[in-house]
Amino acid sequence: MSNAPVTLIIFRYDPGIDSAPRYEKYDVPWREGLLLLSALKYVRENLDETLAFRDYCCGCSWCASCIMMVDGKGIQTCSRPLKPGESLTVEPMRGFSLIKDLAVDFGVKWGNAP
Ligand code: FES
Repeated sequence: MSNAPVTLIIFRYDPGIDSAPRYEKYDVPWREGLLLLSALKYVRENLDETLAFRDYCCGCSWCASCIMMVDGKGIQTCSRPLKPGESLTVEPMRGFSLIKDLAVDFGVKWGNAP
């Protein structure tokens, strides 16, 4: 069985500093049981400490604070297992005000939604 690293292509944008959004690619060592939110933590702890996202809250698919767009679909990243060699594009959850990178303000919706 392959132990090829997982490639994460991550949306990066700090509205207070950057003139435009960009995507950055990170390779994360694969291990049995690796979850997407854990892979994001690996990136921040080992590859780029400036990456912003909501850290664990419940860690068990209950609170939804870890929800992000993954390959265009909104999913809870704490419950998304990763396969060796997999490549995923990770973006902030749509419909909410961006704070930085993958972190959004779940208390503020764009548009006129209540
Ligand atoms: S951290 Fe609570 S649902 Fe993912």
